[in-house]
Amino acid sequence: MTSRVIPVEPFVLVVFGGTGDLARRKLIPAMFERDAAGQFPEEADVIGVSRGKMTQEAFAALAKEAVEEHVPQKERPAPSVKRFLKRLHHVAADATEDEGWVALGEELKRFEGRIVVFYLATGPALFGPICKRLGEFGLATGNTRVVVEKPVGKDSESAHAVNEAIAQVFPEDRVYRIDHYLGKETVQNLMALRFANGLFEPLWNAAHIDHVQITVAEALGVEGRAGYYDTAGALRDMVQNHLLQLLCLVAMEPPAMLDADAVRDEKLKVLRALKPMVAPNWVRGQYRAGASAGGPVPGYLEDLGAQDSHTETFVALKAEIENWRWAGVPFYLRTGKRLAERVSEIVITFRPVPHSIFGQGAGPIVANRLVIRLQPDEGVKLWIMIKDPGPGGMRLRPVPLDMSFAAAFAGRNPDAYERLVLDVVRGNQTLFMRRDEVEAAWAWIDPILEAWSQAPEPPRPYTAGTWGPSAAIALIERDGRTWADGGM
Ligand code: BG6
Repeated sequence: MTSRVIPVEPFVLVVFGGTGDLARRKLIPAMFERDAAGQFPEEADVIGVSRGKMTQEAFAALAKEAVEEHVPQKERPAPSVKRFLKRLHHVAADATEDEGWVALGEELKRFEGRIVVFYLATGPALFGPICKRLGEFGLATGNTRVVVEKPVGKDSESAHAVNEAIAQVFPEDRVYRIDHYLGKETVQNLMALRFANGLFEPLWNAAHIDHVQITVAEALGVEGRAGYYDTAGALRDMVQNHLLQLLCLVAMEPPAMLDADAVRDEKLKVLRALKPMVAPNWVRGQYRAGASAGGPVPGYLEDLGAQDSHTETFVALKAEIENWRWAGVPFYLRTGKRLAERVSEIVITFRPVPHSIFGQGAGPIVANRLVIRLQPDEGVKLWIMIKDPGPGGMRLRPVPLDMSFAAAFAGRNPDAYERLVLDVVRGNQTLFMRRDEVEAAWAWIDPILEAWSQAPEPPRPYTAGTWGPSAAIALIERDGRTWADGGM
């Protein structure tokens, strides 16, 4: 991949939850990668904030371990690691106590004049209290920004409360709500595909598109996050944010420009046009013991260590958008843990040809499909019908016009967090969710949650390593369609 490295302005990144899982798995490795690529100016520092006291050396040691664990060896030459570790500092502060905040203020004084990014890599319950302290201790000054991780709330009401608490201290143009899917190269490429090509847009509507499928399937289970996950479930964890954001990028009108509010205004219109969901347009499931990657794996309840839970680890939905462009075009969404394989893709199925001029012997004419593979094996395939070469008469078959990112571009595919954190430093909110977007997404999710909370029956079981409960297959098959498994 040809990349361009444009250094950012001097900054200091303050990570609350600086020793936590997200910091170690994502933020520290991402910051290291950008520093190693030469994107940091001399004046760039990272302050980890956590409750326990810690020496600078101990924090640097933790960061070094994170880099070694998550950055491939060939991408971390010793001098780059050494330079990066010198940028790290630690301050102990407690979101719910007064302690530590003066010390944080003192530390920040050393970096006066720089852009300050407060990254709240903590549970959402702490977003309000941390912002409050930042305000009270005079730390939320003009050149500061705040980044919050999803989930913002667990329904409309709580999301509104969290957003209000943040808004007491930070105006919306300094709030960055992360949905890391928006930072994925292939997700950004969706906008290039739609708006940098003249080919698709004339066909991008109900007259030419039969239906859309959006699948975000994971092969892994809850991986030690069962405590959090059991309070969330797939609908809150994945659909409210990642899948709806993908749906918005597929369905939105062309924004006038690639500007944060222009893009987000268009996404918001899609969210507001979503038809309210009712049964039976949803299926929820929960994995049972099965096999994954060739080995046996336990079921969700065993992962959770509980006898019972109605938390869904799988969701399939049939969504509809009530506007001129999309009326009558179903958007089938599907996500789950412990599914047959890890694959995220968007499949646009065009309408069938109106009439076949070919006889019976030619075989069926399969409708064209555009498959946008987000991960892994990123790429774009356009399935078209061709004549099978050679003698034997006119026989038709589908073949893909196939563009694989790995084959087309050399180089590494940067992690979403690399792009997103530096976008915060640059002050570019395009790839972040605006408050009204988050709240509109919750407004659509709320009635589903409400219906599920009142349903006596548990989620439908499915065996780990499969494509989810059979009801999910029925959901689409009763419309005479099928899930496009395996990139077809
Ligand atoms: C996170 C969810 O937002 O996204 C996780 O909380 C999920 O449950 C993850 O595993 C998936 O992200 P990715 O980038 O691995 O597809």
